[in-house]
Amino acid sequence: MDRGSRTDVPPSAWISEREGALFAEGVSFDSLAATQKTPLHVVSASAIREAYRSIDGALEGLPHLVCYAMKANGNPAIVKLLAGLGAGIDAVSGGEVHWALRSGVPADRIVMSGVGKTDEELELAFTSGIRSIHVESASELEVIEQLAKARGERVRVGLRINPDVDPKTHPYIATGIHGTKFGLELDVARTLAARILASDHLVLEAVTSHIGSQLGDLAALTESVDITARFFAWCRSEGHAPRMLDVGGGWPIAYGDEDTAYPSYVRIGDAIREGLVRAGVLVDGRLPSDVLLTIEPGRALVGDAAALLTRVVHVKTQGDKRFVVVDAAMTELIRPALYGAYHAIVPVRGPSREAIGSAEIVGPVCETGDFFAEARPLAEVSRGDLILVRGTGAYGAAMSSEYNARPRAAEVLVDGEGVTVIRARGTYDGLHPSR
Ligand code: LLP
Repeated sequence: MDRGSRTDVPPSAWISEREGALFAEGVSFDSLAATQKTPLHVVSASAIREAYRSIDGALEGLPHLVCYAMKANGNPAIVKLLAGLGAGIDAVSGGEVHWALRSGVPADRIVMSGVGKTDEELELAFTSGIRSIHVESASELEVIEQLAKARGERVRVGLRINPDVDPKTHPYIATGIHGTKFGLELDVARTLAARILASDHLVLEAVTSHIGSQLGDLAALTESVDITARFFAWCRSEGHAPRMLDVGGGWPIAYGDEDTAYPSYVRIGDAIREGLVRAGVLVDGRLPSDVLLTIEPGRALVGDAAALLTRVVHVKTQGDKRFVVVDAAMTELIRPALYGAYHAIVPVRGPSREAIGSAEIVGPVCETGDFFAEARPLAEVSRGDLILVRGTGAYGAAMSSEYNARPRAAEVLVDGEGVTVIRARGTYDGLHPSR
């Protein structure tokens, strides 16, 4: 939640202050705004590499696969970068499977989740030979079996269980509690496991769960891993040979408004290990030799690796409030409007200047909910100044829209001193493609 009075700006490995102005790696935000215009999503390649290393390192010693949940940011340049580091993909639509493949991710490193995969999306998943289609209902398993039968094929599926564990996170991003639409209750999953075993067209490749985002409660994660791993072991005892034990995503990042720091990735890795040990799947530090532990982080890989660069269009006082109207809006970052999410906000020039009072930092869209921060302490800023909204790499550009006929903002990838446009700015004509 936006706590209003907070001004906390989390440390960054790629944003630094030089001679009174902010830089993205080796490039100044001033020069990015001058050459690329605003609003602009600025992504750091080195921050993504570092995040991957730290998450991957937390599972060291266990055979594992980091499947990037590309819903966080599906830009092909980012998917390519991560695939090059060894990541697979957790896809959630036909479009994501298509772009994962097109970005060079090998099919056997792609899994697909989602409660409402259409027949067309399932066909794409079959024909491209992805590793596992994670099933989320009895009805879906039935459709998959019929499609596989019609094609005369055997299809690899996963069972996504709903472990009924409360992740104690924002209700909109909690997915593993009964009463949400996600996954299968355990008794249903057991029935489906029996159907898979009896079928000539299905094979159980994976058992999976995902309880939600921004997991801070390690006990909840351990419990969900324990339940998932126990179900995995049960399936193996019943005669299945699933290889993939997929414990989902939810690895957190600090946005700056936390009262208590999130656990480190090493501790998250340990919480996963603890769940595996409790379920009897990890014994003496080893998994059975044919088992691949899989995780599906999205936010943790990219969230802290991008910022939204925006320019102040007008400053006005209304009532007793100072409104700072910027050229970015909920169309570029909807998280504050949708979840009351906190994003740190800093002026590009003189980022450490004292606040002169609080401000409403708002966009130009015709919605009262179109704000980045309410009652946020902020230094004096004027028309034309640049402002950086931090921590926008996950579910920022990915959830963007063209509401109010606003062409999409460009995205650039900074790597050292290099800048590559990875998404061109939209155009007015492009708002209504005719074909
Ligand atoms: N796996 C599955 C099956 C998921 O549904 C998700 C996210 C993830 C992995 C990745 O979760 P992460 O590691 O990024 O927490 N728009 C919201 C977040 C929605 C997450 C949906 N599912 C936000 O802006 O906070």
